[in-house]
Amino acid sequence: MNPRARIAGLGKYLPAHIRTNADIEKLVDTSDAWIQERTGVRERRIAADNESASTMGIEAGRQALEQAEIDPAELDLVLSATTSPDGTFPATASLIQDGVGAVRAGAFDVTAACVGFLSALATGSQFIETGSYKRILVVGTEVLSRIVDWTDRDTCILFGDAAGAVVLEASDQGGPLSFVFHSDGSRADKLYAHGPATRRDIDDHDYHFISMDGRHIFKFAVQAMESAAREAIEAAGMKIEDVDLLVPHQANARIIRATAKALGLPEERAMVNVDRYGNTSAASIPVALREAWEEGRLHDGDRVVLMTFGGGLSWGAMVLDWAPVGPLSAAAEPAHATASGS
Ligand code: UT7
Repeated sequence: MNPRARIAGLGKYLPAHIRTNADIEKLVDTSDAWIQERTGVRERRIAADNESASTMGIEAGRQALEQAEIDPAELDLVLSATTSPDGTFPATASLIQDGVGAVRAGAFDVTAACVGFLSALATGSQFIETGSYKRILVVGTEVLSRIVDWTDRDTCILFGDAAGAVVLEASDQGGPLSFVFHSDGSRADKLYAHGPATRRDIDDHDYHFISMDGRHIFKFAVQAMESAAREAIEAAGMKIEDVDLLVPHQANARIIRATAKALGLPEERAMVNVDRYGNTSAASIPVALREAWEEGRLHDGDRVVLMTFGGGLSWGAMVLDWAPVGPLSAAAEPAHATASGS
């Protein structure tokens, strides 16, 4: 039988500085009440000047490795998903590989905006399921505050900075049961941020800021996450009612509630922390997964559905068979969470 890619460790890192809705009221014409009602966001974290996608990814990665009780020198590969990398190159994954001390590991980035972490997780899982590698660190990390225009009320209310990480380890239990990915590049103009190497015939002085058609994305998001989740659930040979926990991309509390409803699941079955961190793109799912574990919401044998959407446009979902985290011999129970939680 092929090995399975069990999640052996979970990590998160949130920058210390909190920017509340009241702080944003001072920057643009908005209100705390409007932001909470339309998005569910109360506050978000903002990276310090000396922090970046790699420094935050290193912190989250260390926590995940500690929980898995894996020596970084044993890692075969480091994957990083980010839309706000330290630079055009090298890969942020290489900086994380060095920072965590993964001296034997290869490293590369997987870029798919808010679908980035799920894409990297599926990529890493397959290296393990084919028997090529045994231990892989997968990081989602973002400093979106650096590509948000803080004078644009359409976008600045939504986004925040964070990093999350998982360690995958070859095992006979746990890991992905199915995944699906989709893309519609014809709608790339609905959500994007240009980079320094963008086409030179584009007249765009604010090239690196996030640009978004919010209403279009809202409608797309619910439909895309619902259909991807249904597809992944069917591919795993399950029924919707078998789902124990939804861990959706944390973009907007209304989107999360509407998707749970469209799936016919109670909204309490969905993990939500967008109120505290806003939308952290590729970091949102691993941070939410770590916090689901801290809250004791992940149990041995649970069926967990990760689902996401974003720039591309792109969308996808994955079904996980949850097996306890920690070393194979003595997997940690959720009750131990406070010892290593940040
Ligand atoms: O990772 C994926 C990233 N993107 C997303 O997930 C975005 C998805 N979209 C959304 O979350 C929502 O569309 C938004 C939160 C961006 C906007 O909420 P909405 O309910 O779709 O609002 P709207 O754009 O339809 O605007 C409603 C009203 C408008 O005023 P009028 O025309 O009704 O008078 C806007 O001008 O709210 C106004 N408005 C604001 N008011 C206060 C728009 N932005 C703001 C604001 N503060 N920041």
